[in-house]
Amino acid sequence: MKKWILTAAALAASMGAAAQGQVNIICSVQAEWCNMISTVYARTTGAKVNMSLKGSGEALAQLMAEKDNPKTDIWFGGTGDPHLQAAEQGLSLEYKSPTLAQLHPWAQQQAQQSGYRTVGIYSGPLGFGYNPELLAKKKLAVPKTWGDLLKPEYKGDVQVANPASSGTAYTMIATLVQLMGEEKAFDYLKGLHKNVSQYTRSGTGPIKAVARGETAVSISFVHDGPGEKMQGFPVETITPADGTGAEIGSMSLIKGARNLEAAKKFYEWALTPAAQEMAAAAKQFQLPSNKSAKVDARVPDFKKIKFINYDYAKYGASTERRRLISRWEKEVNSLPR
Ligand code: F6P
Repeated sequence: MKKWILTAAALAASMGAAAQGQVNIICSVQAEWCNMISTVYARTTGAKVNMSLKGSGEALAQLMAEKDNPKTDIWFGGTGDPHLQAAEQGLSLEYKSPTLAQLHPWAQQQAQQSGYRTVGIYSGPLGFGYNPELLAKKKLAVPKTWGDLLKPEYKGDVQVANPASSGTAYTMIATLVQLMGEEKAFDYLKGLHKNVSQYTRSGTGPIKAVARGETAVSISFVHDGPGEKMQGFPVETITPADGTGAEIGSMSLIKGARNLEAAKKFYEWALTPAAQEMAAAAKQFQLPSNKSAKVDARVPDFKKIKFINYDYAKYGASTERRRLISRWEKEVNSLPR
C-alpha cells in the first residue's frame, strides 16, 4: 500500500496541480479496488472523496433518478453497456481526454461510440467459475461450453446475477443473443433457469458463492476468479469453447456535476498507468486500458480465448438493453423452477 501511495504522490506532483475540493464518485468495481483508489487519491491530492459502491445497473438507475439534480460527479467502473446508455440519455458529459491516444483501441472505440461521453478503463472476458472440490464431490464434470450448463446434473448448482441490477448478467444475455440468435438464446436462458439456484443482485456474488462452496458453477467475469483464489478458496475459471463476450469496463463524467474540475482531475488520474496498476494491487485482474500499464500475470490471456465480435454500440443502446432485460423478466424469470 505504501508503495502505491508514494507512486501516486509523485504522479500528482508531476501533473503539476494539486487536486483539491471534493469529488463524488459512484464506484462499480469491487470494494477493495474502490477503497484503494479512494484512499490513495484523497491522501495524495488532498481532495475529499465521497464514494458509493453500486452495481452497473443500479448505478445507471441512480443517475437516471438524479438527472435533474445530480449528486454524482463521476462514475468509475462497471460494464460498458450501461455507460453507453447513460451517454445516449444525456446523463454523462462529453469530454475528450488528452490521454486517449495512450489507451488500447477498444477503450478509445468505447469513447468514440459514445460521442466521448465515456471511456474504457479495463476489459475482461465472460466465462464460468467452478469449485473443483465441489464438482469432484458431486461427480460433476467441468462445464466447457454454454450447452453444458443445461445438463440436468447441474440443477440447483448454477448461479448467475440478475440482469436488471448487474452488468455481468446483461453481458451474458447480450453475448448469448449474438452467439445463438435471439430466439435460441431465450430458449437457452429458459433451460438455464431450471438449473439456476439463485439470481444474485451483484455480478460478483455467484463466483464468491462458488469459492465458498455454496454452488458448484457460476457465470462470471473470469478476472474475478484469481482474487478469490488468493484468499485460499478453491475456485477455477474457464471460458466457453463455443465463444464468449467481454466487457469494456468504463468511466463517465456526469453532466451537471457540481465538482467538475475536481472530477476531471480524478478522471485523468484514473487513466494513468500507475492508477490502473492499483487494480492488481487490490486483487482485481481486469486488463488495464492504458497500454503502458503493467499487466499482472493473473490477468486472463485474451489471445487464448475464443471471442465473439461483440457489438458494443448495439447492445449498449437504451432500447435494446431495456427490451432484452424486460423480455428476460417476462419470459424467463417468471417461470417456475
Ligand atoms: O468488479 C468486478 C466486476 O466483474 C467488473 O469487472 C465489472 O465491471 C463489474 O464487476 C460488474 O458488476 P455488476 O455485474 O454487479 O454490475
